[in-house]
Amino acid sequence: MALDKPIITKRIPTPPFGDPADRKRTTFAQYKRTGGYKALEQALGMAPADITNVVKDSELRGRGGAGFSCGLKWTFLPQPDGDRRYLAVNADESEPGTFKDRILIDFDPHLLLEGIAIACRATQCDTAYIYIRGEYHKQAKTLLVALEEAYANQIFGEGSINGEVNGRPLNCYVHRGAGAYICGEETGLLESLEGKRGWPRIKPPFPAVKGLFGRPTVINNVETLMCLPFIISKGADAFKAFGKASHFGGNAPGSYGPKLFGVSGHVKRPGVYEEELGIKMSTLINDYCGGIKGNRKFKAAIPGGVSMGFLSTDQFDAELDFDIGRRYGVLGLGTAGVIVMDESTDIVTATRNIVRFFSHESCGQCTPCREGSGWLYQMLCRIERGDGRTKDIDLMDEIARSMGAMPGTTICGLADGTNWAVKTAIEKFRGDFEAKCKPSVVQIGVNVGA
Ligand SMILES: Cc1cc2nc3c(=O)[nH]c(=O)nc-3n(C[C@H](O)[C@H](O)[C@H](O)COP(=O)(O)O)c2cc1C
Ligand code: SF4
Repeated sequence: MALDKPIITKRIPTPPFGDPADRKRTTFAQYKRTGGYKALEQALGMAPADITNVVKDSELRGRGGAGFSCGLKWTFLPQPDGDRRYLAVNADESEPGTFKDRILIDFDPHLLLEGIAIACRATQCDTAYIYIRGEYHKQAKTLLVALEEAYANQIFGEGSINGEVNGRPLNCYVHRGAGAYICGEETGLLESLEGKRGWPRIKPPFPAVKGLFGRPTVINNVETLMCLPFIISKGADAFKAFGKASHFGGNAPGSYGPKLFGVSGHVKRPGVYEEELGIKMSTLINDYCGGIKGNRKFKAAIPGGVSMGFLSTDQFDAELDFDIGRRYGVLGLGTAGVIVMDESTDIVTATRNIVRFFSHESCGQCTPCREGSGWLYQMLCRIERGDGRTKDIDLMDEIARSMGAMPGTTICGLADGTNWAVKTAIEKFRGDFEAKCKPSVVQIGVNVGA
C-alpha cells in the first residue's frame, strides 16, 4: 500500500544514484509557503514539558539505529541550571547501505532545522550542532545555505522567534566529520565534536547528564528530528495512524509513523522510499523497487545497514518494523537501509566484505572488537580462498558470539555489528561456508608418553 499523501517529505521515487542535478533543494520561501515553520510557532506557545509529552504520546522511536523512544530520552535531562545544554544532531550516516539522511537533507533542509528548533525548545537546549559525515560535501553546503536563510528569517540567533534559551539566543552550527564510521556512535560523535579522537565513552555517565563539554546533551538522528514538525502540527494520533502496535502485545513499544527505507543491492530501482513501518520487505522490493534485478531469485537481505545481520531466503516477507529482531533473528531494524542479495550472491564473500569494514572501523579500545574482527576477517579470507576447514566455521561462530556475549563486553555497539553479521550468516547460510571448506582433519590422539 502506498501512502497517497506525503507525510514527512514527498514520497521520494529516488534514484539516489541518478543525476543529483535533477534534485531540487527546498528554499526557505518554498518551505514557508507550504506551511513550514508553523509547527515551531505552535511549539513556542507550548511549555517544554508539553512538547515532550506529545512526542512521548506519538511513540516516535529513534531513526538512527537503536529505536529508542525519543520523548523518553528527552526526559533523562536534568532540570536546566542556566548553563549550556546541547543538541547534537547525528548526520554522520556512515553505515553501509544507509543513505536516507542524505536524501532528506538534499530535499528538505528546513524540515530538519524546524525539527532542531522544536527539539531545542522541548529540551531547553541553547546550542545545536549538526555533525555531518565528512563525505557529504554537497549536503553540508546545502545545510549552510539553509542555515543562512534561517538566521536571516529569525529562526536562529539574536532576536529570533525562539527568544532566549538559558539566557542565550538559540544557535545552530554545522560541524563536518572526517570519515570515521565510529563518529556516528553517539559518544564517539561527542568526542569528535570536542576536537578529540572519536573514541566512544564508557557509560555512565550518560550524555543526557554529562555529554558535550561535560554538559547535558541530547543526541538525535536527522530523520527522528524531521518527524517532529508533523507530530506537533498534526498531533500524536495522526502520527500513530501510520505503522502498528508491537506484535508482542502488552507494554512492548510499537512501530509507529512513516519511515524512510533505503533500498540498495540487486533490485531494479534502488532508492529511498517512504512507507509505513511494518511494510513487508517483499512489497518494498517488488512494488517499489521493480523486483530483483535480471528477474533472478531472492537469496538474502540485510534489513537496516550491515550491522543488523542477514535475513534468510525464507524471510522474504519479513515485516520491516522494530520487532524484526525478535521475530526474524536479526539484531533489529537499524536504519532500515535494506541491502538485497539475489541467488548469485556468495554469502561468504558478502560476510568477508562486511567484516572487513568493521575491522577497519574498529577504534581499537576493546580487545574483543579489535582482535575479534581482525581474526574473523582473516578466517573469512581463508575460507573464501578455499583454504578453510569446516571446524573454522564453528570457531568463527564462537569468536563472533564472544564479542557480544553480555551487555558491557565492549564499550559500544560496533562489535555487535560484526557479531550479528557473522553469526547470522553461519546460522542461515551454513551451506555456503561448508561448500568452500575442506573437511577438518581428525586427529587421533596418540599418547607418546613422556
Ligand atoms: C558504531 C555505531 C555507529 C552509529 N552511526 C550512527 C549514524 O551514523 N547516525 C545515527 O543517527 N546514529 C548512529 N548510531 C546510533 C547513535 O549512537 C545514536 O543511537 C543515535 O544517533 C540516536 O539518535 P536517535 O535516538 O534519534 O536514533 C551509531 C551507533 C553505533 C554503535
Ligand atoms: S566496541 Fe569496537 S569500536 Fe566500539 S569502543 Fe570498543 S573497540 Fe571501539
